[in-house]
Amino acid sequence: MIVTVWLSLEYLQCLFRRKNRGCMGNKATAVARFSPGMKPKCHVKARCEIYPRSQIKRFPVPDDKVPWTTNFPEYKPVDYTADSILKRPVYADPDIRTEKDSPPLTFNGCDGKINRVSHMGKYEIVDGVPRNPQGRTGLKGRGQLGRWGPNHAADPVVTRWKMDESGKTLNGSDGRPVLQFVSVQRRDNHQWAIPGGMVDAGEVVTATVRREFGEEALNSMEMSPEEKKRLEKELDQLFSTGREIYRGYVDDPRNTDNAWMETVAFNFHDEDNSCFGKIKLCAGDDAMNVQWMDLSGSLDLYASHIDFLAEVAKNHNASW
Ligand code: BGC
Repeated sequence: MIVTVWLSLEYLQCLFRRKNRGCMGNKATAVARFSPGMKPKCHVKARCEIYPRSQIKRFPVPDDKVPWTTNFPEYKPVDYTADSILKRPVYADPDIRTEKDSPPLTFNGCDGKINRVSHMGKYEIVDGVPRNPQGRTGLKGRGQLGRWGPNHAADPVVTRWKMDESGKTLNGSDGRPVLQFVSVQRRDNHQWAIPGGMVDAGEVVTATVRREFGEEALNSMEMSPEEKKRLEKELDQLFSTGREIYRGYVDDPRNTDNAWMETVAFNFHDEDNSCFGKIKLCAGDDAMNVQWMDLSGSLDLYASHIDFLAEVAKNHNASW
């Protein structure tokens, strides 16, 4: 009886605390919404001169020749698919242009657990392969990407207010309060980024953001089963709510004319520093460093991650 009353009190207090501290107070939206409020810009990083982790030079594509609807008769994109992809790791498709007897892929649909639907709508299939909906990139084939067409990722933007030791919120030069987000330094190119990652076959994006945050920002892969269990409990609370801030194409340097990155980004916000304070950041998996970083328009981040942060700063009326 005493135990029951105590548990009920705890439960009510917990509900009260959550309601009042505004810890990630927005409900998670796992709905299929198309790019809320944001339209992808003309891709730039997807036309970078040298393709990542290679010496391959892209065919130069000027801004005005990016759209497929613009005539560009001289266009001769380099054909490149990395050897590591041709060796068919679990996440990679067959090379459908050469392996003619491989079973056909269900583009714009689902192949069992593999989601080949784009957040951008129906993409075209030209000469048997998908065509990048954002236009030319100067390179055909799949480069470093495993899937033909969309390669799905998910990104957790975990934020808190920047405070001094007394708990006072600090303002930026524009007079608005400064937000901080958990940022990781990627092992592949040493750039700072949101700790996101690829959606596994059959996985829902809300599970991906949580798994990737655990692996890259908390080093969960190196934990003992007991530590993992404890972490899972804490993550249950941290990731139970959140707000979707972007869904769509990403201007990623790995994109090609036939394979590209798409993501769903969520913001998990800790209004009074009470949730994430308990958790110790520790870089793991594809991340070599992790830290709370001040949000600002002058950051140089991986792919189009800066655009997601701009949206987050706007939503919280934070310094930018
Ligand atoms: C990264 C994500 C990123 C996506 C698209 C993935 O490899 O882990 O953070 O949004 O690529 O660039």
